Amino acid sequence: MMTDNQIEFALNDHFYDFVDDWKHKFYFLVGGYGSSKSYHVAVKLIEKLLEEKRKALVVREVFDTIRDSCFDLLEEVANAMGVEDYLQFTSSPMQVRFKNGSKIIFKGMDKPVKLKSLNGVSIVWIEECSEVKYMGFKEILGRLRHPTMSNHIILSTNPVSKGNWCYKYFFQDKKEHVFVLDDELLYKNRVVVIGKTYYHHSTVDDNYFVPKDYIEQLDDLKTHDQDLYRVARLGRFGVNGRLVLPQFVVMPDEDIRAAMKAVKQPLEKNGMDFGFVTSYNAVVRMLIDHDNKILYLYDEYYSRDKTDPEIAQDIEKWKDVLIKADCAEPKAIKYYKQKGFRMKACKKFQGSREVYTKKVKRFRSIVCSDKCKNIIDELQDLTFAVDKDGEIIEDEFNIDPHTLSAIWYGLDDYEVSDLKGGGMRTLGS
Ligand SMILES: Nc1ncnc2c1ncn2[C@@H]1O[C@H](COP(=O)(O)OP(=O)(O)OP(=O)(O)O)[C@@H](O)[C@H]1O
Ligand SMILES: [Mg+2]
Repeated sequence: MMTDNQIEFALNDHFYDFVDDWKHKFYFLVGGYGSSKSYHVAVKLIEKLLEEKRKALVVREVFDTIRDSCFDLLEEVANAMGVEDYLQFTSSPMQVRFKNGSKIIFKGMDKPVKLKSLNGVSIVWIEECSEVKYMGFKEILGRLRHPTMSNHIILSTNPVSKGNWCYKYFFQDKKEHVFVLDDELLYKNRVVVIGKTYYHHSTVDDNYFVPKDYIEQLDDLKTHDQDLYRVARLGRFGVNGRLVLPQFVVMPDEDIRAAMKAVKQPLEKNGMDFGFVTSYNAVVRMLIDHDNKILYLYDEYYSRDKTDPEIAQDIEKWKDVLIKADCAEPKAIKYYKQKGFRMKACKKFQGSREVYTKKVKRFRSIVCSDKCKNIIDELQDLTFAVDKDGEIIEDEFNIDPHTLSAIWYGLDDYEVSDLKGGGMRTLGS
């Protein structure tokens, strides 16, 4: 199949191994803009389908984006490889047919019914996989099972936020206690294999085929868009948007205990948010150093899908501490009181979410015990939601932070700046 054009065709060094490797089930390519991920996935696919008669499926979230991206790219790559005579590109239906019977088909996840046609497919390329919904990925995973050939899923994407399913699935999900790979290790080693997954990290520096001014444009992002700089230039996962609690720090549990002991007039506060089947029950135990404007978060309770009697049993040890709970659940509060808990309904009012959030933001420092995994998971990277103009919404967040609600309720009668010196007054009130 080699032709005269072969000489003009070159790969980027960093992708050599990836293109030839078929030992793994998953290939996860993450990187910055223009790092040549898509290009080399196209090369990998075409080479494989020239070698073996196989059917491959190319998937994107939105079908209408496929033609200008994957389909055109495959054609560009076939030309560069000099194999265009072996391939036939047809528009309706959008397909690539190989002389040896191999075939590439294309699907958008926005038209899910058609995914049934995974019959005979042994390779799937999910382009911009962070745009695809987790359900969609799981569906592909479940249906890809060619009986005689090895099955492969190639995923390529720019790194979006750590809240995206592909970070949670391929790296870590603190809330679900999933740990697969530390993304920092991938940035350092560039290629990592864990279990069935081949991870590959790249930036525009790995691509010899981009003009210099393109790289300069990406460099310029540093001064005016930090988030985009991280994604586009560095190709790293992170937090997109404005942090709600930039003063949040994590401290070893024994250190926080010692620090709390040294507080002169400690104020004790506890808050509780009730969950439902899909949301979580959260209790947060707090101690305030009013003079120094420090909020200590030193213990937590966190669960889902439990009945009040079960929760009551779980937090039995805190029966004697005053817990301010969500006033929207009077029946639940009544139940706990009957069981002997010192529980009280918090105060809420129109706009209290925003007011309470601003109050928490006024602490100079928010120190959390490293024991409180769920508080850390929810609050460390918590960002404000934005409206369609990109403006911050002061009482909406990227996730539903149950521990923040618990903190709001627990602090409902506390004022960070007003209450000078009269700290003890609210202890247990
Ligand atoms: N081996 C190659 N030979 C010639 N051109 C290449 C090669 N690799 C990449 N390029 C060119 O570099 C550019 C960027 O590549 P590509 O679109 O694959 O990057 P990407 O990592 O998918 O970027 P993005 O994250 O923005 O989707 C494209 O114009 C592509 O044609
Ligand atoms: Mg791409």
